[in-house]
Amino acid sequence: MELLKVFFYFLLPLILLQLLVQVRRSRCLPPGPISLPIIGNLLSLGDKPHRSLTRLAQTYGPIMSLKLGQLTTIVISSPSMAQEVLQKQDISFSNRFIPDAIRACDEYKLSIIWLPTNDRWRSLRKLAHTHVFSGRVLDSNQHVRWRKVEELMTHVRKCCHQGVAVNIGKETFQTSLNVLSNILFSVDLANFESNEAQVFKDLVWNITLESGKPNLVDYFPALRAIDPQRIRKRMSLYFSKLLSLFGEIIDKKMEAMKACLSRDISEGDVIDMLIKISQDNPKDLDIQHIKHMCVDFFVAGTETTSNTLEWAMTELLRHPESMEKAKNELKRVVGVGKQVEESDISVLPFLQAVIKETLRIHPPVPFFVRQVCTEVDLRGYIVPKGANVLVNVWAIGRDRDHWEYPMEFKPERFLDSKIDVRGHDFELIPFGSGRRVCVGLSLAMRILPTVLGSLINLFDWKIEGKVNPENLDIEEKFGFTLQRANPLLVVPIPI
Ligand code: HEM
Ligand SMILES: *[C@@H]1O[C@H](CO)[C@@H](O)[C@H](O)[C@H]1NC(C)=O
Repeated sequence: MELLKVFFYFLLPLILLQLLVQVRRSRCLPPGPISLPIIGNLLSLGDKPHRSLTRLAQTYGPIMSLKLGQLTTIVISSPSMAQEVLQKQDISFSNRFIPDAIRACDEYKLSIIWLPTNDRWRSLRKLAHTHVFSGRVLDSNQHVRWRKVEELMTHVRKCCHQGVAVNIGKETFQTSLNVLSNILFSVDLANFESNEAQVFKDLVWNITLESGKPNLVDYFPALRAIDPQRIRKRMSLYFSKLLSLFGEIIDKKMEAMKACLSRDISEGDVIDMLIKISQDNPKDLDIQHIKHMCVDFFVAGTETTSNTLEWAMTELLRHPESMEKAKNELKRVVGVGKQVEESDISVLPFLQAVIKETLRIHPPVPFFVRQVCTEVDLRGYIVPKGANVLVNVWAIGRDRDHWEYPMEFKPERFLDSKIDVRGHDFELIPFGSGRRVCVGLSLAMRILPTVLGSLINLFDWKIEGKVNPENLDIEEKFGFTLQRANPLLVVPIPI
C-alpha cells in the first residue's frame, strides 16, 4: 500500500516529467523528413547530396534536421541561418566533423583543417597566415606564380599549333600543384621527366578521390574497427607516402641550412622560414606539423582551384556574350595577347565578376560540416550535443530570396554590388566564413583571375567536336569537390 502511494505521489510525476521533457526536446529539433530505423534518411541523399538536400530544404525550411545513420544532422540552407551559425554563435559551431578517413596517420590531430579551435590550431593558423598567405609574402613570391602561368600558356600554345584539345581541369590542376610546390619549397614539378613529380601528383589526386567517397563508418561509428570499405587503410598509405616525401624535402633543406649557417633566410621560401621558426621555438611548431601543413595545403588548394577554373571556362563558353565582355575588358586594360599580372586584377571588374559568379553557381566545396560538443539553441530549435551541422553553400548561392534569376549565369550582377567572397556577405560564402574561413582565400583569389584571364586573353577557344555552346553539358560529379562529370576539352585557336 505504502509502495503504491510512493509510486503515485513521487515516481509517477517524475516519470511523466521526464517523458514530457523528451517530447519537448524532440519537438524542438528543427523540422525534417520522417526517418527510417537504423539508416535514417541516408537513402534520400543520393549521389548528388547537395541537390537532394536543397530539394528537401524547399519543403522543411532553411534549418532542418535529418538522421544520417546514427548521426543527427542539422542542415542550414539560407544566408541568415548561415550567419547565425558562422558568425553570431560561431564559438559553438567552429569545430569540424572528423570523417574516419582523416584518422589515418593522425592527420586530424596535426592538421589546421581538422584540429578543434584550440591553442594549437590558433598558433598554426597564425603562422600560416603570417608566413604563407599574408599580402607581403604573396607579393614577394608573385613572380613564382607568373612563371607557372607562363608555362601553362606555353603548353597551350603548343596544343594550339597542333590543333589538339586542352583538358582544362587536368592542366590547371597541374598548374595549381606547381604553384604551391614552388611557393612552399621551390621544387619544380613542371619537369615531368622526374618520376617523383608524377607519384606526387597521383598521391594528391588519390587523397582527394578517397576523401570524397561516402564512408559507412561515418554514419555508423560502430563499424570503425572494421573499416569495411578500407578507406582509412588506403588513406594511411597515401598520407604516409606523402608525409615521407615532404619529410625528405625538409631534411634536405635542413642539411643545406646547416651547411651554410649564415644564409639570409629572407631569400628562402616558405618552408625555409617555417623550419627556422621551428628551430627557434620547437614548442610552437615541430617538423611533424610542417609536414602536415604541406599535406593540408595540397589537398585543400589544388582541386578546388582547378575545378573553379574548369567551371569558369565552361560558363564562358556557354555564354559567348560574357566571354566577349571579358575579352574586351582584357584587351582594353591588359593589352591584346598579354598574360595577366596580379596587379591587373583590381582594374578588371568584369573578370572578377566572372570568378564570383562561377563560385556562386559552382562552389567547389558544396557544403561543409561542423560538429557541436554541447547542446545549442539555434533560433528556438535545439541542436543536440554531438550533432553535425551541415552548411549547404550550394543552396545558399541559389537562394531565391537573395538572388535574382539565381539559375542564370550573369556576372553583371556583381558590377554594381559590394558583395564579396571573403565571408562577410552570407549569400556568397564559397570560402566559408568566420574563424575557420579558408586560410588560402587570398592566394586563390590571385591564382583564379590570372589563370582564367590569361587563358582567354591569349587564345580563342572552341569546344571540341560538334557541340553548340548552348548544349555544352554541365553535368556535375560529387566528391571531395564538385567537379564536371566529363572533363572540359577545348581547342585553343590563335587570336
Ligand atoms: C577556389 C579555391 C578554394 C575554395 C573554394 C576553398 C574553400 C574552402 C572552404 C569552403 C573551407 C572551409 C571554410 C569553413 O569551414 O568556413 C576551406 C578551408 C581551408 N582551405 Fe580553402 N579553398 C580554396 C583554396 C585554398 C587554397 C589555395 C589553400 C591553400 C593553399 C586552401 C587551404 C585551406 C585550409 C588550410 C583550410 C582550413 C582552415 C581551417 O579549418 O582553419 N584553400 N577552404
Ligand atoms: C593511386 O590509386 C591507384 C588506384 O587505387 C593506385 O593504383 C596507385 O598506385 C595510387 N598511387 C599512388 C602513388 O599511391
